[in-house]
Amino acid sequence: MPTIVELAVPHLVPAVPGWAVRGWADVSRAALVEVLGHDDFADPPAASLAAYANQKHTRKAVLLALSGPAGAGGTVPAAADDPGDAAAGDPADVLGYARLDLPLDDNRHLAWIEIAVRAAVRRQGVATALWAAAEERVRRAGRDVVTAWTVHGSERPADGDVVRAPTGAGEVRRRDPAASFALARGFALEQVERHSTLALPVAGDRLAAWRSGAQAQAGPDYRIVQWVDRTPDRWVTASAELQRRMSVDVPLAGLDVHEEVWDEARVRDADVARARAGSRYVLSAVEHLATGSLVAFTQIDLPQDRPTVALQDNTLVHGDHRGRRLGLLVKAANLELLARVQPEVRRLHTWNAAENRHMLAINELMGFRTAGTEGSWQLRLT
Ligand SMILES: CC(C)(COP(=O)(O)OP(=O)(O)OC[C@H]1O[C@@H](n2cnc3c(N)ncnc32)[C@H](O)[C@@H]1OP(=O)(O)O)[C@@H](O)C(=O)NCCC(=O)NCCS
Repeated sequence: MPTIVELAVPHLVPAVPGWAVRGWADVSRAALVEVLGHDDFADPPAASLAAYANQKHTRKAVLLALSGPAGAGGTVPAAADDPGDAAAGDPADVLGYARLDLPLDDNRHLAWIEIAVRAAVRRQGVATALWAAAEERVRRAGRDVVTAWTVHGSERPADGDVVRAPTGAGEVRRRDPAASFALARGFALEQVERHSTLALPVAGDRLAAWRSGAQAQAGPDYRIVQWVDRTPDRWVTASAELQRRMSVDVPLAGLDVHEEVWDEARVRDADVARARAGSRYVLSAVEHLATGSLVAFTQIDLPQDRPTVALQDNTLVHGDHRGRRLGLLVKAANLELLARVQPEVRRLHTWNAAENRHMLAINELMGFRTAGTEGSWQLRLT
């Protein structure tokens, strides 16, 4: 049986990742490469450590399954210069991890979990031991709904033995290790997301044609507003409102997710946290001139350790302003901005609910190709 320890939260950042964080990042990267065949989503140890150190809006906990002896008090240091790090271990000692996110500003009934185990030690109960420790932690925090995402490749299940999403859109192979593990723990599949990838660059004249066509349909009441890395003072309040709406104005299937609480400080914190984790971003929004409010936005994150990779973050068109081509307008404008800010990007990845026909239609028009699926699972603790 492995020893389960908790990664201590580093007090000072930036900090140099210690062996435990490097082991956690290794396991995560290997699991992604195994399923997807690439490491476009694998964060380097320094980014994982910086994100972990930021506990302001989300209480984060990383539990590690170790082959060696546990650190004092059941915790291991995260930073290389924390006391005790050098004596304690080696990245290879980390057999697997469970990462928990507990929202603090809202959704205080929820815990989000991710578990991965090194391929060489599968089916030996490592994930079961991590889950037992994580479940105990979740119960202690008073949370009673646990959600998880599982990552899958793009091939269709050949044996037809699938779990279908209750939304009617999308399925996951039942014998997939992650699906099997989630089902064995009592999780229900609530939703399937389609992961799609767009090869970049897109020719400038195509982007310009999409943008001008969409702008012509939207009409003169709407104007594109753009920024990079830091929300301009003028738009901080409007951004908070868009983030609040984003949390519930997207297809959520049966996921018990409640509206998020966003204020100006949280918008500023999100900008700072992204920069500390080594990421830039480009954002395009639409201003409704009659009201001066922002009614649509789309954001692309740019992890700076992978300059050819871009990750689509949130996209939203306010419910009162849909059906006017604002979705295509912001997306085309943001790709133009991306091409100026970081022209070396070659792949843009995005995720959409499989039942989200409107968003998928825009992405298909722009040339995104299906690259995989993700399952969204939920468990109610009783
Ligand atoms: C899913 C994963 C975490 C399971 O880790 P593990 O340590 O091998 O799991 P355990 O040994 O504790 O298995 C517990 C139970 O899960 C189920 N299970 C796990 N892997 C399975 C597989 N390949 N096929 C069928 N059932 C499986 C079984 O019910 C198993 O119990 P059993 O061995 O008594 O039959 C591991 O396969 C993994 O890291 N996969 C890649 C990462 C990933 O997809 N993570 C999920 C994202 S949230």
